Amino acid sequence: MVLTNKVAVVTGISKGIGHALCKQLLAKGAVVYGLGRNNATDLSSDQFHFICCDIRNLNEVKETFRQIFSAVKHIDILINNAGLGYFGFLENLAEEHWHEMFDTNINGMFYCCKQVLPSMKKQQHGHVINIASTAALEGIAQVSGYCATKWAVKGLSESLYKELRDFGIKVTCVYPGSTKTDFFRNSATVKPHNQMLMPEDVALLVVQSIEMPDNFNSVNLEIRPLHVRKT
Ligand SMILES: NC(=O)c1ccc[n+]([C@@H]2O[C@H](COP(=O)([O-])OP(=O)(O)OC[C@H]3O[C@@H](n4cnc5c(N)ncnc54)[C@H](OP(=O)(O)O)[C@@H]3O)[C@@H](O)[C@H]2O)c1
Repeated sequence: MVLTNKVAVVTGISKGIGHALCKQLLAKGAVVYGLGRNNATDLSSDQFHFICCDIRNLNEVKETFRQIFSAVKHIDILINNAGLGYFGFLENLAEEHWHEMFDTNINGMFYCCKQVLPSMKKQQHGHVINIASTAALEGIAQVSGYCATKWAVKGLSESLYKELRDFGIKVTCVYPGSTKTDFFRNSATVKPHNQMLMPEDVALLVVQSIEMPDNFNSVNLEIRPLHVRKT
């Protein structure tokens, strides 16, 4: 698909993978609506529109999509990227951190999908991309809450893929391994390093999946660094 003037909505754009996605989509000529609690200072383009939105808040999400649909007739691409993790033994995990992960990683994704799918169904095309994690593919000690949210993202995505293909809508779920971003700020043990995936490389694969021919849907994209650091 040629991306010139295609309309993309990306959540969680202030940094990391979401920020890299915005940059690459803009470079390809897309119109990008970036949703988040914070903007990024270097995303200045006539084609870029930041909307302040905490995706945990259904009313904010509804108002955000109302604003977008008052400016554009259709949304071609929705990238549900915003997410975060808290780690540690389950019994030590604060209840508010558990809820924050579920509210952001899965409930926010549901809210955004719900606003976009009716119009994608009407236009008979669209692409929903959900950023999960390799934590959606296995259990990991001291990552239980985050894994649970990302397993939910996998379940939602695979179901949506089957639910939406007859409406001409693609669904792609992305499972990146450790990526060098601010994501590990809440981890006592993992610090970002150069043998992790780079956010730009994850974004590149996502953009490539968007650019594939109409009758081609990358349903699951598992991405891992080739070399695992031995510490
Ligand atoms: N880094 C990794 O190793 C890794 C691996 C696999 C999957 N992932 C997933 O990749 C996605 C992006 O993470 P990242 O690595 O790029 O981490 P990051 O650098 O911490 O970026 C996360 C982004 O999500 C935004 N965000 C968080 N809560 C939000 C909310 N309630 N409403 C709106 N925006 C919100 C953050 O914005 P503010 O905090 O500025 O509001 C930030 O822009 C997440 O879903 C994460 O689970 C990451």
